[in-house]
Amino acid sequence: MRTYYGKIGELEEILISLPFYYCMIKNEFSSVPILDNFYQTSSYFPMPVVLISTISPSGKTNLGPYSLCFPYIIAEKHSMLLISRSNSNTAENIRRAKVCAINFIPYNKKLLKECVLLGYPGETTEEKMKNNKFTLIPSQRTPEEKQENFIYPEIVDEAIQVFECTLDESFPTYNNEVTLESHFVLNIDKILLKNEWKELLYEGKEFPDLPIDFGYRNNINFWFSKHSAPYAEPIPKEKGNSVNTVIYAAQRIDPEVEWTDEACEKLVKVPRIFLKKVLKGCVEIAKEEGIRLITPEFMDKIRDKRAVEKQ
Ligand SMILES: Cc1cc2nc3c(=O)[nH]c(=O)nc-3n(C[C@H](O)[C@H](O)[C@H](O)COP(=O)(O)O)c2cc1C
Repeated sequence: MRTYYGKIGELEEILISLPFYYCMIKNEFSSVPILDNFYQTSSYFPMPVVLISTISPSGKTNLGPYSLCFPYIIAEKHSMLLISRSNSNTAENIRRAKVCAINFIPYNKKLLKECVLLGYPGETTEEKMKNNKFTLIPSQRTPEEKQENFIYPEIVDEAIQVFECTLDESFPTYNNEVTLESHFVLNIDKILLKNEWKELLYEGKEFPDLPIDFGYRNNINFWFSKHSAPYAEPIPKEKGNSVNTVIYAAQRIDPEVEWTDEACEKLVKVPRIFLKKVLKGCVEIAKEEGIRLITPEFMDKIRDKRAVEKQ
């Protein structure tokens, strides 16, 4: 026969093992219904926050906040994909004026508040832009980079980087008239970086504070977060780290001089701290000789010339 104390003992045992079962359940997968806007209703999907500037029918710059904006074609052609409500000011302006600028604003609670204010659907450019707190400056395209009869929107001075884009009409724009969803392929014509970040771009040691958006959740709030300091995780040496390192660095020395992979291979043994200097030296010689593509033969020529000079 069980005693009163025995029952307490059993209860204690169950209570003690609860955290164990709880951990087990927490660690298992459960299927979730896939709802419309699944990235924010059925999951956690980290997204960027950009302000897209476009030209309104009256010629005024319109700013619209967007998060579904990602790299699309990344080699040879360079473009972004934007997913927008098909009747937003931004979508209509891109369809009509064919151009836009994607402004990446830094993580800053005040700026993100302003973004949310600019994200209220149904307002005209005039209505929303009269309260705009962002500083607008002219497009940075040079006269040669401008197309005749095109009007370019202003860009946001607070941005860390800006992609000035043109609609790629070789892709038919996806328009769903029922769900009011439009997808635009935007060719990147120009990338602008604030000087501070341009200098650090090739070092790769510091990163700007860009916000992460977890979307408009539960139809109440937008949820933003700041990221922590990125850290480096090198790929193992045996996976060809060294030649890729040289190719990466070589491609960034001078946009007017290109390198073949074989030419880069000739430099894999150069210690990391001297690599940039050596690459710069080769590019200087190439430019003096009017060469635009550095080949292994050209590298051999430099080596032979150096050997003679040393003697
Ligand atoms: C942070 C944030 C991100 C947003 N991302 C998108 C998006 O990716 N696609 C979209 O259609 N609407 C998005 N919205 C809602 C649009 O901003 C909203 O439709 C707004 O009216 C667009 O402005 P516009 O009509 O001037 O283009 C977002 C809003 C905020 C605040």
